[in-house]
Amino acid sequence: MRLPKAGTIEVAPSILSADFARLADEISEVEKAGVKIIHLDVMDGHFVPNITIGPVVVAKLRKCSDLVFDAHLMISEPGKYAPEFIKAGADHITFHIEVAKEPFKLIDEIHELGATAGICLNPETSVDAIEKVACACDMVLVMTVHPGFGGQQFMADAAGKIIRIREIVGSDIRIEVDGGISVETTAIVVSHGADTLVAGNAIFGQKDRLSAIEAIRKAAGC
Ligand code: DX5
Ligand code: ZN
Repeated sequence: MRLPKAGTIEVAPSILSADFARLADEISEVEKAGVKIIHLDVMDGHFVPNITIGPVVVAKLRKCSDLVFDAHLMISEPGKYAPEFIKAGADHITFHIEVAKEPFKLIDEIHELGATAGICLNPETSVDAIEKVACACDMVLVMTVHPGFGGQQFMADAAGKIIRIREIVGSDIRIEVDGGISVETTAIVVSHGADTLVAGNAIFGQKDRLSAIEAIRKAAGC
Protein backbone atom coordinates (compact mmCIF):
# COMPACT_ATOMS: atom_id res chain seq x y z
CA MET A 1 0.00 0.00 0.00
CA ARG A 2 1.23 3.44 -0.87
CA LEU A 3 0.59 6.82 0.76
CA PRO A 4 -1.80 8.70 -1.59
CA LYS A 5 -0.10 11.40 -3.65
CA ALA A 6 -0.50 14.94 -2.32
CA GLY A 7 -3.49 16.85 -3.64
CA THR A 8 -6.34 15.23 -1.74
CA ILE A 9 -7.59 15.65 1.81
CA GLU A 10 -7.33 12.39 3.73
CA VAL A 11 -8.72 11.54 7.16
CA ALA A 12 -6.44 9.13 9.02
CA PRO A 13 -8.15 7.59 12.06
CA SER A 14 -5.73 7.04 14.95
CA ILE A 15 -6.12 3.71 16.72
CA LEU A 16 -5.07 5.23 20.03
CA SER A 17 -8.70 5.85 20.98
CA ALA A 18 -9.92 2.54 19.52
CA ASP A 19 -10.74 -0.60 21.50
CA PHE A 20 -7.35 -2.34 21.57
CA ALA A 21 -9.03 -5.68 22.30
CA ARG A 22 -10.86 -5.42 18.94
CA LEU A 23 -8.33 -3.58 16.81
CA ALA A 24 -8.89 -5.50 13.56
CA ASP A 25 -12.67 -4.92 13.77
CA GLU A 26 -12.15 -1.27 14.62
CA ILE A 27 -9.93 -0.83 11.55
CA SER A 28 -12.36 -2.58 9.21
CA GLU A 29 -15.15 -0.35 10.56
CA VAL A 30 -13.37 2.85 9.47
CA GLU A 31 -12.33 1.18 6.21
CA LYS A 32 -16.06 1.07 5.38
CA ALA A 33 -16.10 4.87 5.47
CA GLY A 34 -13.59 4.85 2.61
CA VAL A 35 -10.54 6.06 4.53
CA LYS A 36 -7.24 5.14 2.88
CA ILE A 37 -4.87 5.62 5.81
CA ILE A 38 -4.86 4.25 9.36
CA HIS A 39 -2.60 6.01 11.85
CA LEU A 40 -0.75 3.63 14.19
CA ASP A 41 0.62 5.31 17.29
CA VAL A 42 3.76 3.59 18.53
CA MET A 43 4.98 4.67 21.99
CA ASP A 44 7.92 3.36 23.97
CA GLY A 45 7.38 4.76 27.48
CA HIS A 46 10.63 6.71 27.07
CA PHE A 47 10.19 9.37 24.40
CA VAL A 48 6.61 9.71 25.65
CA PRO A 49 5.11 8.66 29.00
CA ASN A 50 2.92 5.92 27.51
CA ILE A 51 3.39 2.52 25.85
CA THR A 52 1.33 1.12 22.98
CA ILE A 53 2.14 -1.37 20.26
CA GLY A 54 5.19 -2.91 18.62
CA PRO A 55 5.96 -4.65 15.30
CA VAL A 56 4.31 -7.91 16.44
CA VAL A 57 0.91 -6.23 16.58
CA VAL A 58 1.48 -4.40 13.28
CA ALA A 59 2.31 -7.72 11.57
CA LYS A 60 -0.94 -9.29 12.81
CA LEU A 61 -2.99 -6.26 11.75
CA ARG A 62 -1.34 -6.35 8.32
CA LYS A 63 -3.09 -9.66 7.68
CA CYS A 64 -6.47 -8.03 8.39
CA SER A 65 -6.32 -4.76 6.45
CA ASP A 66 -5.27 -3.27 3.13
CA LEU A 67 -5.22 0.30 4.40
CA VAL A 68 -2.04 2.37 4.29
CA PHE A 69 -0.35 1.76 7.65
CA ASP A 70 0.96 5.12 8.84
CA ALA A 71 3.26 4.31 11.77
CA HIS A 72 3.91 7.30 14.01
CA LEU A 73 7.01 6.34 15.97
CA MET A 74 7.00 8.19 19.28
CA ILE A 75 10.12 6.34 20.35
CA SER A 76 13.63 7.35 21.36
CA GLU A 77 15.43 5.11 18.88
CA PRO A 78 13.58 5.33 15.56
CA GLY A 79 16.68 4.29 13.62
CA LYS A 80 16.83 1.00 15.49
CA TYR A 81 13.18 0.05 15.07
CA ALA A 82 11.98 1.61 11.78
CA PRO A 83 13.16 -1.42 9.72
CA GLU A 84 11.26 -3.75 12.06
CA PHE A 85 8.03 -1.82 11.55
CA ILE A 86 8.48 -1.85 7.76
CA LYS A 87 9.12 -5.60 7.82
CA ALA A 88 5.95 -5.96 9.89
CA GLY A 89 3.94 -4.16 7.21
CA ALA A 90 4.10 -0.43 7.89
CA ASP A 91 3.82 1.53 4.63
CA HIS A 92 4.78 4.92 6.01
CA ILE A 93 7.17 5.64 8.88
CA THR A 94 7.17 8.95 10.73
CA PHE A 95 9.91 9.66 13.24
CA HIS A 96 10.50 12.66 15.49
CA ILE A 97 13.16 15.24 14.68
CA GLU A 98 13.79 15.69 18.44
CA VAL A 99 15.43 12.24 18.61
CA ALA A 100 16.70 11.82 15.06
CA LYS A 101 20.50 11.48 15.04
CA GLU A 102 20.90 11.26 11.25
CA PRO A 103 17.52 12.12 9.73
CA PHE A 104 18.64 12.09 6.09
CA LYS A 105 20.22 8.67 6.52
CA LEU A 106 17.10 7.28 8.15
CA ILE A 107 14.85 8.70 5.42
CA ASP A 108 17.05 7.01 2.79
CA GLU A 109 16.92 3.74 4.68
CA ILE A 110 13.12 3.90 4.97
CA HIS A 111 12.87 4.54 1.22
CA GLU A 112 15.29 1.71 0.43
CA LEU A 113 13.11 -0.64 2.45
CA GLY A 114 10.13 0.32 0.28
CA ALA A 115 8.21 2.64 2.62
CA THR A 116 7.53 6.36 2.54
CA ALA A 117 9.03 8.62 5.19
CA GLY A 118 7.78 11.37 7.45
CA ILE A 119 9.35 13.76 9.90
CA CYS A 120 7.44 14.98 12.95
CA LEU A 121 7.86 17.98 15.20
CA ASN A 122 6.49 18.49 18.69
CA PRO A 123 4.52 21.63 19.61
CA GLU A 124 7.55 23.30 21.19
CA THR A 125 9.92 22.43 18.33
CA SER A 126 10.63 25.20 15.85
CA VAL A 127 10.09 24.79 12.11
CA ASP A 128 13.80 25.60 11.70
CA ALA A 129 14.59 22.12 13.06
CA ILE A 130 12.94 20.42 10.07
CA GLU A 131 13.52 23.05 7.41
CA LYS A 132 16.35 21.20 5.64
CA VAL A 133 14.99 17.69 5.97
CA ALA A 134 11.31 18.36 5.20
CA CYS A 135 11.70 18.21 1.42
CA ALA A 136 13.40 14.80 1.61
CA CYS A 137 10.20 13.40 3.17
CA ASP A 138 6.89 12.31 1.70
CA MET A 139 4.90 13.84 4.55
CA VAL A 140 5.58 16.22 7.44
CA LEU A 141 3.68 15.59 10.68
CA VAL A 142 2.82 18.57 12.87
CA MET A 143 1.87 17.76 16.46
CA THR A 144 -0.88 19.96 17.84
CA VAL A 145 -0.78 18.30 21.28
CA HIS A 146 2.11 16.98 23.34
CA PRO A 147 2.53 13.41 22.11
CA GLY A 148 1.56 10.52 24.34
CA PHE A 149 -2.17 10.61 24.86
CA GLY A 150 -5.41 10.94 22.94
CA GLY A 151 -8.22 13.35 23.70
CA GLN A 152 -6.08 16.39 24.53
CA GLN A 153 -6.84 20.02 23.75
CA PHE A 154 -5.82 21.31 20.30
CA MET A 155 -2.90 23.81 20.41
CA ALA A 156 -3.64 26.57 17.89
CA ASP A 157 -0.13 28.07 18.13
CA ALA A 158 1.45 24.78 17.07
CA ALA A 159 -0.99 24.54 14.15
CA GLY A 160 0.21 27.96 12.99
CA LYS A 161 3.52 26.32 11.98
CA ILE A 162 1.71 24.55 9.12
CA ILE A 163 1.64 27.81 7.14
CA ARG A 164 5.43 28.10 7.01
CA ILE A 165 5.92 24.37 6.45
CA ARG A 166 3.60 24.56 3.42
CA GLU A 167 5.77 27.38 2.04
CA ILE A 168 8.86 25.21 2.52
CA VAL A 169 7.56 21.95 1.04
CA GLY A 170 5.30 23.27 -1.74
CA SER A 171 2.33 21.27 -2.94
CA ASP A 172 3.88 17.85 -3.59
CA ILE A 173 4.50 16.82 0.01
CA ARG A 174 1.72 16.00 2.41
CA ILE A 175 1.30 17.85 5.71
CA GLU A 176 -0.32 15.74 8.39
CA VAL A 177 -1.64 17.16 11.61
CA ASP A 178 -2.10 15.18 14.80
CA GLY A 179 -3.75 16.11 18.09
CA GLY A 180 -7.14 17.55 18.96
CA ILE A 181 -8.47 17.29 15.41
CA SER A 182 -12.24 17.59 15.46
CA VAL A 183 -15.04 19.11 13.39
CA GLU A 184 -14.19 22.45 15.05
CA THR A 185 -10.41 22.43 14.48
CA THR A 186 -10.36 20.83 11.01
CA ALA A 187 -11.18 24.07 9.17
CA ILE A 188 -8.29 25.84 10.92
CA VAL A 189 -5.62 23.31 9.94
CA VAL A 190 -6.93 22.89 6.40
CA SER A 191 -6.90 26.66 5.91
CA HIS A 192 -3.25 26.64 7.08
CA GLY A 193 -2.38 24.04 4.40
CA ALA A 194 -2.73 20.63 6.07
CA ASP A 195 -4.12 17.81 3.91
CA THR A 196 -3.87 14.75 6.14
CA LEU A 197 -5.99 14.82 9.28
CA VAL A 198 -5.25 12.38 12.09
CA ALA A 199 -8.19 11.98 14.43
CA GLY A 200 -8.40 9.60 17.38
CA ASN A 201 -10.97 10.68 19.90
CA ALA A 202 -13.11 12.50 17.32
CA ILE A 203 -13.63 9.17 15.51
CA PHE A 204 -13.09 6.24 17.88
CA GLY A 205 -14.54 8.18 20.79
CA GLN A 206 -17.85 8.35 18.90
CA LYS A 207 -20.39 5.58 18.66
CA ASP A 208 -20.99 6.16 14.95
CA ARG A 209 -17.48 6.24 13.47
CA LEU A 210 -18.72 6.56 9.90
CA SER A 211 -20.71 9.75 10.59
CA ALA A 212 -17.78 11.11 12.61
CA ILE A 213 -15.48 10.66 9.59
CA GLU A 214 -18.06 12.23 7.28
CA ALA A 215 -18.39 15.23 9.61
CA ILE A 216 -14.62 15.82 9.56
CA ARG A 217 -14.56 15.51 5.76
CA LYS A 218 -17.37 18.01 5.49
CA ALA A 219 -15.56 20.43 7.82
CA ALA A 220 -12.49 20.03 5.60
CA GLY A 221 -14.55 21.00 2.57
CA CYS A 222 -14.58 17.64 0.82
C1 DX5 B 1 -0.96 11.47 20.41
C2 DX5 B 1 -1.04 10.67 19.14
C3 DX5 B 1 -2.25 10.94 18.36
C4 DX5 B 1 -3.54 10.74 19.09
C5 DX5 B 1 -4.42 11.87 18.72
O1 DX5 B 1 0.29 11.41 20.92
O2 DX5 B 1 0.08 10.88 18.30
O3 DX5 B 1 -2.25 10.26 17.11
O4 DX5 B 1 -4.20 9.55 18.80
O5 DX5 B 1 -5.55 11.77 19.47
P1 DX5 B 1 -6.72 12.83 19.41
O6 DX5 B 1 -7.17 12.88 17.98
O7 DX5 B 1 -7.73 12.24 20.32
O8 DX5 B 1 -6.16 14.13 19.89
ZN1 ZN C 1 -0.04 10.09 16.22
